[in-house]
Amino acid sequence: MLIDSHAHLEMREFDEDRDDVIRRAKEAGVDTIVTVGTNLRDCRKAIAIAGQHETVYAAIGIHPHDVKGIDEKTYSLIRKLAGQPKVVAYGEIGLDFFRNRSPRDVQIRRFGEQLELAAEFGLPVIIHDREAHAETLEILMGWKGKKGGIIHCFSGDAAMAGKCLDMGFYISIPGPVTYPKSEKLLEVVRQVPLDRLLVETDAPYLTPHPYRGKRNEPAYVVYTAKKIAEIKGLSLEEVGEATSRNTKAVFGIV
Ligand code: NI
Repeated sequence: MLIDSHAHLEMREFDEDRDDVIRRAKEAGVDTIVTVGTNLRDCRKAIAIAGQHETVYAAIGIHPHDVKGIDEKTYSLIRKLAGQPKVVAYGEIGLDFFRNRSPRDVQIRRFGEQLELAAEFGLPVIIHDREAHAETLEILMGWKGKKGGIIHCFSGDAAMAGKCLDMGFYISIPGPVTYPKSEKLLEVVRQVPLDRLLVETDAPYLTPHPYRGKRNEPAYVVYTAKKIAEIKGLSLEEVGEATSRNTKAVFGIV
C-alpha cells in the first residue's frame, strides 16, 4: 500500500489516458492519490477528477508561478472551492526563486495571504520551496495555522528538514532521490524519522529512475519508496505503511 501525496492528474499531460494512469497506479499498489491544482481552472478540474475516482483527493491553491494572475475575484472563487467534497489541503503555495515566473515581492505577499486562507479554511498546507529556503522558513515560522502541512518535493538540507520538523511539518520525498548525485536528499531521508516522511511523484514531472526522461505517473512512486526503504534499511511494506499512515494523518483522510 502506497499513497502518492502529490501529483498533477488535472494537467493536460494526462488528458488522453487519465483513467488508465489511475488504474495503473492501483495495480502498482498506489491506492490513493492527492492531485494538486495550481490555478483556478486546474483546481476545478482536480476537484472534478476526485469526484469521479474514489481513490483520488484534491488540493487547491495558486502556485507561486501563477500568483501574478491573482485578482480581486480569485480568493472569493477559491473560498467556494475550499468547501467542496474531497478537498483535503491548501496548496501548493510558496516561493519559487529558481524560475521567478512571478516577481519575488508578489510571491512573498501572496504566500502570506494564502497561508491565512488555509488557516481560515482549517486546511493543512502544501508548501512549494525552490531556491527560497531562508525566506520560506521565515514566513512559515510566523504562520499561526494550526493544521500544519507538508514541505512538498523537499530540496533543502538535513538542517532545514530539522527546522521544518520542529514546526510540525511533514517532509515529502520526490523521485530525484533515485538519481545519482542526490547525496543531500539521501541525508535528509536518513535523518527524518519514518513517522514524518511522505512520498510523492509530482507527476507529470520529476520521474524517478528507471523512467527518468519519460512522463511521470503515480504508479512510479513505488521506485521512490523502494529507494527510501533501501536508505533506511527497511522493507518496502514498512515504508508504504508508514508513509500512507502519515499522509492520511496530515490530510485527515479516513
Ligand atoms: Ni507540484
